[in-house]
Order: sequence, then C-alpha cells, then structure tokens
Amino acid sequence: MKQPGQSRRRAFSGVQPSGGLHLGNYLGAIRNWVLHQDDFDNVFCVVDLHRVTVPHDPATQRTATRDVAAWYLAAGLDPGRCILFVQSHVSAHSELAWLLNCVTPMGWVGRMTQFKEKSGAARESVSVGLFDYPVLMAADILLYDAHVVPVGDDQKQHVELCRDIAQAFNRRFGPVLVVPEPLIREVGARIMSLDDPTSKMSKSNPNPRSRIELGDSPKTIRKKFARATTDSLTEVRFDPERPGITNLLGIFRTLTGWSEAQIEAHFAGKLYGHLKKEVADATIQALEPLQRRHDELMSDLTWLESVLASGAERARTIARKTLARVHEAMGLG
Ligand code: TYM
Repeated sequence: MKQPGQSRRRAFSGVQPSGGLHLGNYLGAIRNWVLHQDDFDNVFCVVDLHRVTVPHDPATQRTATRDVAAWYLAAGLDPGRCILFVQSHVSAHSELAWLLNCVTPMGWVGRMTQFKEKSGAARESVSVGLFDYPVLMAADILLYDAHVVPVGDDQKQHVELCRDIAQAFNRRFGPVLVVPEPLIREVGARIMSLDDPTSKMSKSNPNPRSRIELGDSPKTIRKKFARATTDSLTEVRFDPERPGITNLLGIFRTLTGWSEAQIEAHFAGKLYGHLKKEVADATIQALEPLQRRHDELMSDLTWLESVLASGAERARTIARKTLARVHEAMGLG
C-alpha cells in the first residue's frame, strides 16, 4: 500500500546513540541505506528513546545523538533524498507506542531473544522500557507507513514482531497500518566479534578489541585485526567450522564486493597474517573519507542541526497523519 502521490516504496531504519558506532552497524545497516538511497523513499532516525531504556549519561547524550547523525551524513546519506531526524524530536513515536502497547500481548514481547539477552539474570530490575523496546520500534516503523526495514540480521525478530502487531491492529480496527518487511542483505548482515567470532560484534561487549569502531585510527584498526581470534589451521577459505577466518573473509567480501571464489583464489597459498593485513587495509581505505567528513560535521554543528530540524519537521507531517488514522480507527478523541 503506497500513499497517494508516493512513487517509491518507503524504507525506515535507525541506530541507537549508545557509544561509538562499529563496523557491524556500518556494513549491516548504514552502508546499505546509502547504496540503495535511490531505490526507496527514505526515512532514517537516530533512536535516542531506545537508548534510554538502559542507564545512560544525560551529560553526553545529546552529543552522542549528533555523533550518530554525523556518521549517517558522512557515510553518504543525502538530506535531499532522505528524511534524517532524531526520534525524541517527534512525539508521535511515544504516542503510537502507547496505543500499540494496548493491542500487543505480553507473551509476544516476552519471547524476544534480545530482551532475554539484555536483561539476563536482572529480569526483575531492568526497566519496563527495555521490555517494551520492540513495541516502540514497531511504532517507529508503522508511523511512516514503511514497506521495508533495512537492518542487520539481529533485528529480524523485532521486525517480525512489528509485522505481527500491525496485522493484529488491522484485524481489530480495519486496514490502517502498512505491514512492513525486513530487508536483510546477504553479505554483511552479521559481522562477528573479533575476540569471540561466535558472537556478533556489539557496542555492549566490554572488550573494546572485539569491535572496529568507525572512528578508530589506522594504527588501532591494524592492531585489532592483527589480534583477531582465528584458529590453528592455515588455509584461508570460507568455512563455517572456522568462524574467525570466515568472519574476516566476510568483512573483506562486504568491503570489496568480490565473490567468495575470487577471494579464495586471491588468498590461495597465503597465511592468516596476510589476510588480516588486507582486511585492515580495506577497512582503513573505506573508513578514512567517512572519518574526515564526520570530524568536519562535528566541529561545527550548525548545518547538522539544521538538517535534523528540517528532518523532524518533515517526519512530523507524515507521523501526524498516521496517528490521526489510528485515533480515528480506535475511536479516540
Ligand atoms: P542497533 O543500534 O543495535 O544497531 C543498528 C543497526 O546495526 C545493525 N547491526 C549489525 N549488523 C551486522 N553485524 C553486526 N554485528 C551488527 N550489530 C548491529 C543492526 O541490525 C541495526 O540494523 N533496535 C534497533 C534500532 C531501531 C530500529 C528501529 C531499527 C529502533 N527502531 C526501527 C529499524 C527500524 C537497534 O538496536 O539497532
């Protein structure tokens, strides 16, 4: 279902401003948004309301939020082709989340693996907001009538819950919400941790060597790749039994666009150290221009603030209409 006058399908996605972004966020999400910017009508958000579901530092939060927006722009998102904004600037996200809360069964949310992982043994003391996180995420997506949600593999379950919520709402109140689909690319969807390649690269891993941050210097990038966990074999090839080497090859594949066969031929007869050096070189080459642009944007926030202000204005216009449809269907007002 496209809205009148809308020629392309709409994409919606977001990243949490919870510390330095890493290579997984870039290769699994942001880079794809940029590559497919002309295929969709784009809405991208910095999801700061999601950030506060776990303890955060109010003194640094505003800057952390701008930092993520600066990476979006540095990576190549064009405000002429995308709506870019901050979630908390558009109050309709919280309002729709409340209404969706009232149609979402507790059991559906309780099954979310990310909640189970994040709450762990502290299940009774984490915030209600952390439990409700995926319903707010559903509100983000449904407010903009998004057709596709480009994300990494770890968000698939949340987007599926969003579909279930939209369908449940439509069954009860009529065809009001667009039912979205996850858009997960085959390559780069799951970048693994450098210290433990059986778990995904993540901002919350206490070991900073486990991830390449987008702002890391060339020297740090080389060092982190050089120390990445591998195995005691020698042959460089894709092999699910060897997750460390396969992860490095996967990063190389995502950055170069080469096929698996081309990559295996390129590294035939070479040692792990050689692969680590080439992955580091490819990463440095990809990140250097982004880092330069990101630093420029952060050194004078005037333009960035104006992009976010006009993005919020455009986002509000769309969100207001969806919320009005939802109110009408639910008999509110
Ligand atoms: P967040 O901030 O954890 O991650 C942002 C994006 O990065 C992807 N990602 C990865 N991709 C590949 N390999 C990895 N190791 C890796 N780690 C993270 C995530 O899949 C995501 O696409 N809940 C979302 C934010 C959100 C959102 C939304 C997304 C809130 N509302 C609405 C889409 C639509 C999250 O925590 O992302």
